[in-house]
Amino acid sequence: MTDPNEFARRLFDGLPSRYDQLAEVLSLGQNQRWRRAMVDAVVDASPASVLDVATGPAGVALQLAARTGAKITGLDLTLEMLRAGAANVARSAHSRRVSLVAGRAEQLPFPDGTFDALTFTYLLRYVTDPGATVAELARVVKPGGVVAALEFHVPAGPLWRPLWLVYTRLVLPAAGYAAGGREWFEVGRFLGPSISEHWRRYPLSWQAEAWGRAGIVDVRWRVMSAGGGVVMWGTKA
Ligand SMILES: C[S@@+](CC[C@H](N)C(=O)[O-])C[C@H]1O[C@@H](n2cnc3c(N)ncnc32)[C@H](O)[C@@H]1O
Repeated sequence: MTDPNEFARRLFDGLPSRYDQLAEVLSLGQNQRWRRAMVDAVVDASPASVLDVATGPAGVALQLAARTGAKITGLDLTLEMLRAGAANVARSAHSRRVSLVAGRAEQLPFPDGTFDALTFTYLLRYVTDPGATVAELARVVKPGGVVAALEFHVPAGPLWRPLWLVYTRLVLPAAGYAAGGREWFEVGRFLGPSISEHWRRYPLSWQAEAWGRAGIVDVRWRVMSAGGGVVMWGTKA
């Protein structure tokens, strides 16, 4: 079986240029809404430090910096993504409060209880053991700190489910190719089956239990855009 870290590095290595624009196109413009809803859960807690895991080109990290007074650390596995992130941070008004580090979500390079809050986006489909990864993420959050996450989801019901299947299996690969060439075609083709398989194996009830086992309490979630995305948040006990 392919090492999931290697797979993610290969998948994301060629994507950084125009990642943010294409992510919007491929999520039918919903990514910004979902991202904002996730960041809302953190903003309300007024943290002084936040770790954003799987930060990619630092879009979430920069929104956290813009909407809080916190110091933000963005962590990612893929160096090309971090390079794009560093350029985005350098261009922003918040560059002094955002730092980026290379690392793996499965083994974070920080002591227990380092951060007041933690966010992660589109991460758990790329790890072998989502439960263990959530526990590792929770480890570095201070007691009382907020953990918030965003992931694609699978719409339910007789109208949205078939439309979503057509969109993810046919339109996404074609739109990916048209907008970003071979690399985005591969992502477009990979995304739908990856999302379906993830939620088949780890449904929302499973995720909430995994967060609970990781010591995160008051776990809540909001399914958005007819089921296309889900934001989950809770508090480290
Ligand atoms: C779809 S991108 C999301 C980027 C960013 N969070 C956003 O919403 O714009 C997923 C990111 O997860 C990163 N990633 C995948 N597996 C990882 C792991 N085990 N540890 C840290 N980052 C990982 C990839 O390198 C990639 O940048």
